[in-house]
Amino acid sequence: MAKPKVLIGARIHESVRAYLEGFCECEYCDANGLPREELLGKMSDKAGAIIFGTRVDAAFFDAAPLLKAVCNVSVGYNNVDVDEAKKRGVAVTNTPGVLDETVADLILGLMLSSSRRIAELDRYVRDGAWKPSDGTNLYGSDVHRKTLGIIGMGRIGEAVARRAVGGFSMEVRYYNRHRKPEAESALGVAWRDLDGLLAESDFIVCMMPLTEETRGMIGKREFSLMKPSAFFINASRGQTIDEKALIEALRNGTIAGAGLDVFEVEPIAPDNPLLTFDNVVLTPHLGSATHRTRNEMAMLAARNLKTVLEGGAALTPVY
Ligand code: DGY
Repeated sequence: MAKPKVLIGARIHESVRAYLEGFCECEYCDANGLPREELLGKMSDKAGAIIFGTRVDAAFFDAAPLLKAVCNVSVGYNNVDVDEAKKRGVAVTNTPGVLDETVADLILGLMLSSSRRIAELDRYVRDGAWKPSDGTNLYGSDVHRKTLGIIGMGRIGEAVARRAVGGFSMEVRYYNRHRKPEAESALGVAWRDLDGLLAESDFIVCMMPLTEETRGMIGKREFSLMKPSAFFINASRGQTIDEKALIEALRNGTIAGAGLDVFEVEPIAPDNPLLTFDNVVLTPHLGSATHRTRNEMAMLAARNLKTVLEGGAALTPVY
């Protein structure tokens, strides 16, 4: 029997390619780099797609009448119109679990880098600006024993809390739609309402998924509630915050600094004012980007694809 045809639109390691080619005929491409029409043109004979954040909407489904599975190589799936997928009976999968610790590592990195000014002072040293007379002008703020507020206490939030409590003796507060009594007792974290968390925290970490409810959730009002000494960290999705309000908060000294892995528009525009602030650390949306984790994510997507194409239930469905 002929193998089903699938589109592999994400970067995939050789070992995952070998696995995929065992059960399907793969067409490889950079789904995010291709002109839209060209991408849709490739979908007419495809039973499945492995993608990394590619927009999957009604037009995509229209172009793919044989489609059975869309497997996202990411935990966030705001790029997929899930209602439309449901209507058409197409399975949608993501990659929860395998990336939690890796993303949590980066978040701690952003906290340390923004508060201890690591990226800024790296530039200072490289620029030859280091002088014997330097002193308090290079000082930063502590992370240990400070208060951390986590917005969105999913698995990644819990991995951040474990590091913060166990490694840095921090007090951890969290805000989540649903309270998590097990996390509270296992990790020693305490729930706060959003305003309480914003007012109390020295570090605020956003880890909520992007949904209609969380779009623009942190805006001018929320920044105004934060301490002027607070550092704001976002590793969720750029659209969960009002980026203009963040820029204004940084410009006015409403907060002390920020560590950002995600942006309203990615890649960031060269004239984005965020690029001009010394007290902002920026990384190019790579929270989960280590070789091991990205390979595990790709393998999980591939296993989801195989299961669905063989008529089974997806391993990590989003609905
Ligand atoms: C995720 O898995 O959602 C990461 O942010 C990569 O998109």
